[in-house]
Amino acid sequence: MKNKKWFGIITLVSLILFVSTCYAANSHGKKRQKKIGILLVTFGSSKASAQVSFDNIDKKIKTLYTNTEVRWAYTSHIIRKKLAKQGKHLDSPEVALAKMMDEKFTHVAVQSLHTMLGFEYEDLKNTIRAYKTMEGFEKIILGNPLMATQKDMTDIVDAIFQIIPKERKKDEAVVLMGHGSHHPANAFYAALMFQLQLKDPTLFIGTVEGFPEIDLIQELLHKNNIKKAYLMPFMSVAGDHAKNDMAGDDDDSWKSILTKAGIVCVPVLKGMAEFEPIVNIWAGHLEGSMAQFK
Ligand code: CO
Repeated sequence: MKNKKWFGIITLVSLILFVSTCYAANSHGKKRQKKIGILLVTFGSSKASAQVSFDNIDKKIKTLYTNTEVRWAYTSHIIRKKLAKQGKHLDSPEVALAKMMDEKFTHVAVQSLHTMLGFEYEDLKNTIRAYKTMEGFEKIILGNPLMATQKDMTDIVDAIFQIIPKERKKDEAVVLMGHGSHHPANAFYAALMFQLQLKDPTLFIGTVEGFPEIDLIQELLHKNNIKKAYLMPFMSVAGDHAKNDMAGDDDDSWKSILTKAGIVCVPVLKGMAEFEPIVNIWAGHLEGSMAQFK
């Protein structure tokens, strides 16, 4: 009898506590229901050929996180403007995050789909820093781009050996075209080339806008007595740079420069994000962020 009475009192007290907690939570908007979202951020591309890469990543991430909303943002203003003219409206990271905050997302994993820790990534980091100072998201985490740590480098090296053309013979080179930048992180390209060459000395990486330039790569190809080279973009998409600067017919394209130097060129017009082993590296970075929301 006494036990029953106590049980009744405890139940009542618990109920009051529960109701008041719910009320407090609602009135202060603090303990909201968890709403997790993923925001994939890329430089963007207006080329239709690039969409294959974006679709591939989109599919992969949506398969991994079936119950989580996956959204996209493009950092390039020029590309967003170009696409808008075609009726395709894409948000900047700033706008995409504002919408997510407005829609009461509590946890957001922003995943950079950039290749390296350059200016685009830094801008994104600053945007996220600003959102962190606002009340709105309980947690917002930015995932590293493709190439940010030594582990990434090791993973990229492994991935590249899985994706280079199978028909390539031992004495034929693979020349990857990175974007390059005047950002200090540009040093990653040469570091990656060193690590690739530890496994196979006929793998090279040059860049369009940084070091190593194509002239140096051409010199190295000659030193190695290479007569044939496969050209591949080391960029998420096979967009403008791959089509024109790498495989284009103009005199200053890599294909033209190397062909003129007596090297047979075989361009491979596929973005890095079209290849599973590479996409897995970006996905691994996102996984690290998502694990922190548990
Ligand atoms: Co560019």
